[in-house]
Amino acid sequence: MAMTPSKSALADTMNQSWARINDFISYHYVYALACTFAVVLLGSFVAWRKRPKIRAYDIDGVPIKELKIRNYSRSAIIFHSQSISKQGEQLAQDEPYVLNNGKHSEVVVHTPEHVREFLRQDLNDHWHPADLNFGDYFNRILGQCAGALYNQPWRTVRRYFDPAYTHGTSVTMIPVFETEVSAWLRDLKNDVLSSGVGRLILHAEQACKTIPLRAIPLSFYGDAYTEQRHKELVRLSNMQAQALAYTVMGKWQMSQWFNLLPTPSKRHLDNYLTDWKTFNLDILESARKKQLNIPAQHVFKGVDVEGGMTMDQYLQTIDEMIFTNIGITGTIIVFMFEQLAHHADFQQKLHEEIMAKKARADFKLDTYVSSSSTLLHYLCLEVVRLHPALGFSPPECISIPKVIGRYKLPSATPIVIDIRRLNTNPLTWGPDANQFRPERFASLSPSDYRYGYVRFRVMSVKPSECLGRHMVDVLMKLVVVKVVEKYRVEKVEKGFSVKEGLLAFVDRK
Ligand code: HEM
Repeated sequence: MAMTPSKSALADTMNQSWARINDFISYHYVYALACTFAVVLLGSFVAWRKRPKIRAYDIDGVPIKELKIRNYSRSAIIFHSQSISKQGEQLAQDEPYVLNNGKHSEVVVHTPEHVREFLRQDLNDHWHPADLNFGDYFNRILGQCAGALYNQPWRTVRRYFDPAYTHGTSVTMIPVFETEVSAWLRDLKNDVLSSGVGRLILHAEQACKTIPLRAIPLSFYGDAYTEQRHKELVRLSNMQAQALAYTVMGKWQMSQWFNLLPTPSKRHLDNYLTDWKTFNLDILESARKKQLNIPAQHVFKGVDVEGGMTMDQYLQTIDEMIFTNIGITGTIIVFMFEQLAHHADFQQKLHEEIMAKKARADFKLDTYVSSSSTLLHYLCLEVVRLHPALGFSPPECISIPKVIGRYKLPSATPIVIDIRRLNTNPLTWGPDANQFRPERFASLSPSDYRYGYVRFRVMSVKPSECLGRHMVDVLMKLVVVKVVEKYRVEKVEKGFSVKEGLLAFVDRK
């Protein structure tokens, strides 16, 4: 006779069955997850191993030299450019060479002759490799910014951003920038650590990056850039710096497959992209509510209209302007003050030029900062010559075979220019090419350094120039005028309780 199970026995049996089903499901779930991980990792590995090789030989069949930088991802070319440039120089001296980071290879050129040959005949048919060879993680941060685009998408983005950054709009920012620089000097004075008797002591790197981080966002966000927004932007700039750090140190982050995994780097990037978008949309919303008329609103009109920009292009071009280029501008201003501190003679002549100009009845600050035949202007040219914004230009592929240096390069070879070496080549700049001597520009015409100097423009596939060139020119000149008219910039010797990197602004009175 069949036994009727009691209620509790039935419940036990059901519980056990559920437990078995749960075990089965969780076992298979973990198993499936592990398999997915393995497939994704394998995919990343295979993609990473697929590396295009450059085969180039001279007429005797000797292969081009190769510099391997295996410990870094390709974006090390941005963040460790000086060390890579020096290693390349030691390896190949005057000849081009191949730079290889394991996944990507590019030929590095660095003399005016190399550059002329690189651009000759087929310039309009050059193209950029996908992702600029930086990989997926970098691509998600900056792959859609103006600097990474070309052809029609690039033209569209520039059509909407350019009106905010003409020479005219930059000159109208002079009063705003003057107020910012004065506030910056006042803050230094009020800081007990930096203020001494008749002089201000500043940690150049920390102090100088704050000027562009206040001034350049004002040129885009206008009156909507409040103190609160500034604080938020500083927080976001730290997040962006951390995201870029992943692109430098993280080889795996180059892979699209790897970036599908729930890793800390992916979480960080997702958070950053969300916060950056929120920040920018909030600013537009508050400008609309307060009926402010800010440049960002005009540029944003180009988003999502027919034939306009994408939201990513808008957000990433601002990222490029605000974070990447502000960092660059800050380090160039530091370098400028350091050079002034090292070259007291030039600094004195510059001070005299400023005082003489200001003493004239017809003096106009906008005319002075716009002039290209002043010591002030030569200083700005010389500083960027010796401390360029980019160590290496973005890679660009040639469309026909070429002989550069001694080597026959096949078509489709990606090429980058080592800007540090180009800007200090003695053939263009003479035996004192590595020395700081701004007056050299008084006796040079731009045609003398047509292929030998990169400042705001990398001669390249697109007729592009730095978007912020007028704005930053005005800003840098105002900073110099305000400081050098009133103070003598001096180096503070390293010693007991004096850290490296300190400068002093000594009152001239
Ligand atoms: C002294 C400081 C700066 C220097 C030396 C500099 C230099 C450069 C250079 C050499 C390029 C590459 C241009 C090319 O591909 O031919 C560039 C691109 C760019 N710069 Fe600057 N830059 C500076 C500051 C700024 C600032 C403050 C901004 C902010 C508005 C800015 C915005 C941009 C943008 C958006 C691009 C990409 C342009 C494009 O490809 O369409 N730059 N810059």
